[in-house]
Amino acid sequence: FSQIGSESGWRAAETSVTKAEAEARGIDLKFADAQQKQENQIKAIRSYIAQKVDVIAFAPVVTTGWDTVLKEAKAAKIPVILTDRSIETSDPSLYVTMIGSDFTEEGRKAGRWLLDNVKGGTVNIVELQGTVGSAPAIERKKGFEEVIAGKAEYKVIRSQTGDFTRAKGKEVMEAFLKADGNKINVLYAHNDDMAIGAIQAIEEAGMKPGTDVKVISVDAVKGAFEAMIAGKMNVSVECNPQLGPQLMEIAKEVVAGKPQPKRINTKESV
Ligand code: AHR
Repeated sequence: FSQIGSESGWRAAETSVTKAEAEARGIDLKFADAQQKQENQIKAIRSYIAQKVDVIAFAPVVTTGWDTVLKEAKAAKIPVILTDRSIETSDPSLYVTMIGSDFTEEGRKAGRWLLDNVKGGTVNIVELQGTVGSAPAIERKKGFEEVIAGKAEYKVIRSQTGDFTRAKGKEVMEAFLKADGNKINVLYAHNDDMAIGAIQAIEEAGMKPGTDVKVISVDAVKGAFEAMIAGKMNVSVECNPQLGPQLMEIAKEVVAGKPQPKRINTKESV
């Protein structure tokens, strides 16, 4: 299993659930942390091919640039399962199935919460995007924009990547606050870690997160629940990191030759 890295609480949860599940089922799991670099994931996949593993699973950091290495896996007759994030490919036969969330729907849920709960006059929104070129950043942005499209009072006044990390979320929010300060009514962060970093920036700027600036986020990790209880975050859309059990189940079925649907969505709420 080639994991993206450990950029967020969500990622840490996904890693530990996957490892625990493999152990519980007696599956020999070779695990590599790519430190958020595609080149490291490609290296890991090549090493799994060389080791002649039964199944390769990976969470692709970005959507593009996988075809060459996946062709190598196909030539070696090793099935590939995508977890968490999707890819863009000219040949969908290069992977068996993709297990993960509907990120566009998560973005829509965030947008619907906004329309239902923040009303009256102009609503200025700043957006913290996830890793550039990653499926969750592209799709959470798209789903949110779909819902607010045509609603002139809702304006995204700034949108920049915070790379899904707490430190970057804080840094970018500081820049947003410097530029627009009191104009900002809402923060939409593509994940909780960035939102939590941004909450610190809002407090340091002398404003109240959750009140002066409504905070909408995605993941629903423990830190987000703590922030919601403290009144500093208003909502977190669930993104379920517990993909390990399904991954191990499907890996066994794939090895046994059982056909799989091309896409397996996880069930999620708000
Ligand atoms: O791909 C899922 C996203 O990746 C999570 O929302 C984010 O926290 C993680 O880093």
